[in-house]
Amino acid sequence: MTRVSELAPFQKRIAERSRQKNSRIVLSLDPTRSHDPKKFALKSIDRLYRHVCAVKLNFHLILPLSMADLTEITKLAHARGLECIADIKLNDIGNTNRIAIQYLLEMGFDAVIVNPLIGKVALKSAVKQTHERSCGIITLTYMSHAGAREYYGAEVINHRTGRIARLYKMFHSLAIDVKADGMVVGANQSDILKEISHVRKIPIFSPGIGIQGGRIALAIKNGTDYFIVGRSIIASANPIRAAKKFQQLAVA
Ligand code: XMP
Repeated sequence: MTRVSELAPFQKRIAERSRQKNSRIVLSLDPTRSHDPKKFALKSIDRLYRHVCAVKLNFHLILPLSMADLTEITKLAHARGLECIADIKLNDIGNTNRIAIQYLLEMGFDAVIVNPLIGKVALKSAVKQTHERSCGIITLTYMSHAGAREYYGAEVINHRTGRIARLYKMFHSLAIDVKADGMVVGANQSDILKEISHVRKIPIFSPGIGIQGGRIALAIKNGTDYFIVGRSIIASANPIRAAKKFQQLAVA
């Protein structure tokens, strides 16, 4: 991996926060419908910030909140030493992507998860837009859910080379090519993770721990840098204890 001093700003910040907190856990703030979304987010950050290096706000948390609410959440997260990732799996034309990213950065997000299906030109421009504000883009490479194989694992014709390639391999090369700040590969996709981490040039973020079947020790061996954990912490009977457990498991 590249030295911390040479990293792009978001990569550098999350690496530093991870070192300070001694944690590679990105807490996925996933409320249920019975939660008040804003209270849930603020309370979770306040309870769990010591054990995680970042929080990830999913589309279903962002959707019911206002810009003021979201700014309050990112401000608290920053004050507690955390990076904020917007997980909206952005997937539109360049023009609307640009406006969506602009709003997210204005509200204090440090990185945005983007679907690489938007293509190289749109992705490059999203990376440029975030890098100009010292923020970053994380792209999907191979998702963690059961249906991921249907398309991420599909064979497609690479229109540039005319050769048959697996879609995730194209997404992997694309992420490196456009200088994305991270890529998402499910912790439970062991073979893919192993293969990708051999030629990794950017950090790997892995969801799929616990409830989706992934194990931290194995994923570390296979090359995961940061673990995205939601229900196994949030829905546990004792979230602080659960967060501590994952923090300790993920120490290299
Ligand atoms: P759990 O409860 O399974 O939640 O720990 C995981 C969180 O991560 C999101 N998720 C993904 N996000 N690529 C992503 O960008 C993925 O492959 C992926 N799988 C799960 C999920 O939405 C939840 O917030």
